[in-house]
Amino acid sequence: MALVGSGSALPSASISNALLGHRVETSDEWIRSRTGIGSRRVAGAGETVTSLASAAALAALEQAGWSAAEVDLILLATSSPDDLFGTAPRVQAAIGAHAAVAFDLTAACSGFLFALITASQYIRSGSFERVLVIGADQLSRWVDWDDRSTCVLFGDGAGAVALQACEQADDGLLAFRMRSDGSRNACLTLAQTPEHRPLVAGLTAQVGGFAPIHMNGQEVYKFAVREVPAVLSELLEATGIKASTLDWLLLHQANQRILDAVADRFAVPQQRVLSNLGLYGNTSAATIPLMLDEAVRDGRVQPGHLLASSGFGAGLSWGGALLRWSGRLA
Ligand code: UT7
Repeated sequence: MALVGSGSALPSASISNALLGHRVETSDEWIRSRTGIGSRRVAGAGETVTSLASAAALAALEQAGWSAAEVDLILLATSSPDDLFGTAPRVQAAIGAHAAVAFDLTAACSGFLFALITASQYIRSGSFERVLVIGADQLSRWVDWDDRSTCVLFGDGAGAVALQACEQADDGLLAFRMRSDGSRNACLTLAQTPEHRPLVAGLTAQVGGFAPIHMNGQEVYKFAVREVPAVLSELLEATGIKASTLDWLLLHQANQRILDAVADRFAVPQQRVLSNLGLYGNTSAATIPLMLDEAVRDGRVQPGHLLASSGFGAGLSWGGALLRWSGRLA
């Protein structure tokens, strides 16, 4: 499969660190020095996962030179759906991709990478020819805005890529790894509230509702700086590709210190590490395609460029992929 188009979309409202300081006891200095984040976008009235994902998908379609009617599959990676039954069909309808099957995939901040890898298997097997993979999250719905240890980290956004069947020699997914460790699930959760209400004589039913995001930041940080380099090392070793030949590191944007640690480990110079979390914070499943789209549109990522990507987060889940950007096929 070839990566032939990208798109992204962001809510219009931006909240600076200083402004957040009016809500919780924090400071621009603390947030910037610990995370690299300077501001984040937060969805306002009329902005939803569906609207952001649809706008990102349309931009990716346009860049790929496809019509919506040509799309076979839409995979939407999200952990903050507009509808727990699935948001991808709403996106399908909104963009007019009537022939596509559409469903959600949930793997938190690893979601986009897992969805991209999943899509590649459908394409390689010959089941589908044209696939839109979208990462979109609206975690502003689910953070506790009074918990300064988490609310400063997250933002809303969406990114999408268009994937197309191609000759094996042109395949843009050179290698991948996917990992899960549910034994460490409690490190980062957006879990259902265990509230049971009386139903009929002697029986209760669990009522809907989720507790806000809960994170053990230090544990997740340690997990990320251990597992991301490990998974990328495996990929480089398996393919015989040297880190010095990578054009870009395209990592999940959670914390600048994590990006720096991974870059140091592989001696990748700062100018080849893609980073935009200063402006957008951690947009969960959206960070990787949002970052990729920005770098494709401003000309940093060029056709033929080699990218090492890694997503990591709740689950715990993590993964890596070596990708070659193709751009629109002739
Ligand atoms: O996408 C999913 C992946 N998520 C991640 O990768 C997140 C990984 N973790 C991290 O990035 C970092 O652990 C954080 C940025 C979340 C936190 O940084 P830290 O250096 O681990 O800080 P900490 O949690 O150890 O807190 C240090 C101090 C505490 O005060 P005391 O106990 O030392 O007095 C916190 O209460 O900083 C305090 N603190 C804050 N102070 C000002 C926590 N949040 C804030 C805040 N403003 N927003």
